[in-house]
Amino acid sequence: MAKTGFAEYITFAVILRRFGSYFAPRGLGEEREKMTMRLVVTIALFSLVIALALPPMAAADAAADYKAKCQACHGPGGVPSEGMAKSMGMKPLGGADVQGMSDADLTAAIANGKGKMKGFKGTLTDAQISDLVKYIRTLKK
Ligand code: HEC
Repeated sequence: MAKTGFAEYITFAVILRRFGSYFAPRGLGEEREKMTMRLVVTIALFSLVIALALPPMAAADAAADYKAKCQACHGPGGVPSEGMAKSMGMKPLGGADVQGMSDADLTAAIANGKGKMKGFKGTLTDAQISDLVKYIRTLKK
């Protein structure tokens, strides 16, 4: 995720550089070109700060999504209550069985549903589901 943010930043900076020369074409005076470049650099730096701040924001979103949509069944920290585990049959998300599943299997279970759990495709975006898979990895015991 941090790498993605950085790549987006580079792309954005390159696009801004292009725009900079578009708004300040040669012949309009060096002063104006300099000012435009300063603006471009400022915006590029600002976008770097945002790009670096995005991954922690995604993690916070996943924790909030988990609390709102998953915790009622899977319990705090992925540990279901005894009653829940008995009636629904799910295992602790941080336990070896679930952690032994591949990211693709976890994604499919969340998106399409499994056992008594309905699928969340349509309720959650692909990005939210992918962040939840990463969140589940943090619950590993
Ligand atoms: C209505 C209760 C309920 C809710 C809400 C729920 N789950 Fe489940 N979940 C289950 C049950 C039941 C299973 C299947 C257990 C089995 O049969 O193996 C399951 C299975 C899973 C699995 C596959 C691992 C396993 O134990 O088989 C994952 C991953 C998972 N849930 C994640 C989530 C996430 C993330 C959310 C929130 C977006 C969520 N669940 C919401 C009940 C629920």
